[in-house]
Amino acid sequence: MDHFLYRDDILHGEDVPVPGIAASVGTPFYLYSEATFRRHFRLFDEALAGMDHLVCYAVKANSNQAILKLLGDMGAGMDVVSGGEYARVRAAGVPGERIVFSGVGKTREEMRAALAGGVRQFNVESEPELEELNGLAVSMGLRAPVAIRVNPDVDARTHAKISTGKAENKFGIPISRARGVYARAGTMAGIDITGIDVHIGSQITDLGPFRRAYLKVGDLARQLRADGHDIRRLDLGGGLGIPYARGNEAPPLPTEYGAMIRETVGDLGCEVVIEPGRLIAGNAGILVARVIRVKEGEGRKFLIVDAGMNDLVRPAMYEAHHDIVPVAQPVPGEKQEPFDVVGPVCETGDTFARERFLPPLQAGDLLAFRSAGAYGAVMASEYNARPLIPEVLVSGDQFAVIRARPSYDEMVNRDRIPEWL
Ligand code: LLP
Repeated sequence: MDHFLYRDDILHGEDVPVPGIAASVGTPFYLYSEATFRRHFRLFDEALAGMDHLVCYAVKANSNQAILKLLGDMGAGMDVVSGGEYARVRAAGVPGERIVFSGVGKTREEMRAALAGGVRQFNVESEPELEELNGLAVSMGLRAPVAIRVNPDVDARTHAKISTGKAENKFGIPISRARGVYARAGTMAGIDITGIDVHIGSQITDLGPFRRAYLKVGDLARQLRADGHDIRRLDLGGGLGIPYARGNEAPPLPTEYGAMIRETVGDLGCEVVIEPGRLIAGNAGILVARVIRVKEGEGRKFLIVDAGMNDLVRPAMYEAHHDIVPVAQPVPGEKQEPFDVVGPVCETGDTFARERFLPPLQAGDLLAFRSAGAYGAVMASEYNARPLIPEVLVSGDQFAVIRARPSYDEMVNRDRIPEWL
């Protein structure tokens, strides 16, 4: 459920009509609902109620400061994968002890910054990373809290580009090697072993792969305890999928996911950390665009909109489906026709949908791309010299621009022309 609903035949973000925001900030833009973000965070928090837990929002899904602050103020932890995300989270006021640092290629500088600034744990992805972190911590007179990310070799049955838990993926340490790595870590003066970390992929729409991975993690935890390690925390990653095509998809609910966690690893008495991104942010945001014109092609109609693949890359990159709805609610029973919905970028890949059935539309009409709150704005670029589009947050009957659209001058003047030219 989200808070983008029709009222009086006009799409609203909470209590605010979308056309009013479009008139004020111009199109295209991202629109987020504060109530939806809050609701989704609470769903996870409640799903783990009764267990010692921390829901660490995966910042990569949407890293706007306003979003980080609103979740951070609710008590959310944060999962970061870069020094930039760490800096964003700290700037939003989240303390280090609520930040887990993931990522397969942490640099020395990133590790140093997190050690100095405070961190709940590093999710370490390789033996060389462990050695380097140990050396760094020792040189700083600190002990780095560490979970080793294990690769459980489980097929998450999701898009190949967002599957991370199979042996062939670059992530984690093969679970078969884990005991040896923990043994080595146990000898390191700069390493404090806290637990085990796993993450098998994203947009996972059934619980089976999670269950298989978590059972393996549970077994490993018991072995490691028997080996003498103080395994007190399990970071079970993110990845729970969301319905992108309304009416056709019903991924498991956070409550079902929470129950499965209790069932698979609950008996271990560990603190449970989860790292959801998409489920918190995805349906808390839409992308609003305007029809530039309708073009008749050879046996098809192109709906050319003012948002492009640079603004929302998911369809081009993962063949992802986003529901597209007119901001003015179609009259019930109105005849729909198939459109190819495309952006203005000079690539055929700049296609949001093919043969999508929509009511008659014309230049100037507003459209909303649903489920665009996660991996939308954060993956945007200025390809074709299209300035990054604004982000707007609605809360009840008020809205605020939480990232402004740069002017052409601001975009152009970031470049520097060397003296010799
Ligand atoms: N934790 C780790 C270590 C991750 O790598 C990810 C996502 C998450 C948590 C959050 O997963 P989520 O709950 O959001 O599924 N750009 C792609 C998704 C990439 C996900 C990468 N890792 C997309 O637009 O579908």
